[in-house]
Amino acid sequence: MKIQGKVALITGASRGIGRAIALELAQQGVKRVILLARDRQKLTQVAQEIEALGVKATILAVDLTQGVEVNIAVAQLWRNYGPIHLLVNCAGVAYQNSFLRSKLPQVQEEISVNLLGMYTLTSLIARRMVSQREGTIINVSSLMGKVAAPTMATYSATKFAILGFTQALRRELAEYNIQVRALLPTLTDTDMVRDLKLFRWVTPMTPQQVAQTLITGLEKDSPEILVGWQSYLAIWCQRFAPWLLEWVLNIATPSASSRQQPGDILSTITQKLSLATKFQRLGDLFWSNQMVSLVSARKS
Ligand SMILES: NC(=O)c1ccc[n+]([C@@H]2O[C@H](COP(=O)([O-])OP(=O)(O)OC[C@H]3O[C@@H](n4cnc5c(N)ncnc54)[C@H](OP(=O)(O)O)[C@@H]3O)[C@@H](O)[C@H]2O)c1
Repeated sequence: MKIQGKVALITGASRGIGRAIALELAQQGVKRVILLARDRQKLTQVAQEIEALGVKATILAVDLTQGVEVNIAVAQLWRNYGPIHLLVNCAGVAYQNSFLRSKLPQVQEEISVNLLGMYTLTSLIARRMVSQREGTIINVSSLMGKVAAPTMATYSATKFAILGFTQALRRELAEYNIQVRALLPTLTDTDMVRDLKLFRWVTPMTPQQVAQTLITGLEKDSPEILVGWQSYLAIWCQRFAPWLLEWVLNIATPSASSRQQPGDILSTITQKLSLATKFQRLGDLFWSNQMVSLVSARKS
C-alpha cells in the first residue's frame, strides 16, 4: 500500500505504539491522521506534533467499549474527513496475573477493548471501505498471539483471537479490494509493560522501531508483520524446536505459583535473569543481521 496522500485512523494513538505509528505515518506523507483514544489532552499533544510536521490531524476522544458513541463518532468522521483508507486497530489493555489469581473485571476489560472494541470500529469502517472498494486494515496482535505466555492467559487469548479474526476478514474482504493484516510486536517499551518487570530481560523494542517495521511491512504483501529478531526466533522455535521454546518460556516468565515465599521469589528471579541473560547473549551472537535476513528471505 502506498500511504502518501491517504487518510489514516489509528486507535490507541494517545501514547505508546499507536502514537509512534501516527507520527511515523505523518512523516511518511499521509494527508490526514485521525487519532482515537480516551485521553483528549494526550491526543491534542500528539495532534500538535503531527501538525508541526505539516500533516492534518483530527482527534477522536472516545472509549472503544462504548458502541453507540463510537458509531456516532465514525458517522461524523466519515462525513467530515472521509474516506478513510487505512485503519490501524492498536488500542489495547493487558493485565498480568497468575490465572488462579485472575480477576474477572480485568478479563472483561481485556476482552471489551482488545476484541469487542476492535470489532465495533472495524465493522463500522469496513462497511464504508467496501463501498469505496479500497482500504487497508491493520490489527495489532502480539507475539503473544502466537506464543502464549504464562501469567497472561486472557491477554494472550485476545491476541490469538485477533489473528483468527484477521485471517478470516482477510479472505472475506479481499474481493472488495480491502487488505486485512496483523502486526505482531514483541516486548515494546510503553506504559503497558512498565509493571511487567520479569519480562524485562527480553530486549524491549522502542515504539518507533515497531512503527517503522509497520511502514516497511505495508509495502509488502505478508499477512502478518513480525517485529524484531526475537519474534522470528520464537516462531522458528515453535515450528522446529518446540521443546526449546518451552524451556525458554519456563525460564523467562514469572512463576504462576501462588505459594512462593518472598525469599524463593528473589532467588528464582536471580536464577532466571542470569540464565535468560546468557541465552539472550547467545541469541544476539547467533542471530547476526545475516541470519535475520536469511529467515526473512525464506519467509517471503
Ligand atoms: N507494549 C508491548 O510490549 C506490546 C507488545 C505486543 C503487542 N502490543 C500491543 O500494542 C498495542 C498498543 O500497546 P502499547 O504498548 O502502546 O500500550 P499503551 O502504551 O498502554 O497504550 C494503549 C493505548 O490504548 C488506548 N486505549 C486503552 N483502552 C482504550 C479504550 N477503552 N478506548 C480507546 N482507547 C483505549 C490508550 O489510550 P487512552 O488511555 O487515552 O484511552 C492508549 O493510547 C496493544 O494492542 C498491545 O496489546 C504491545
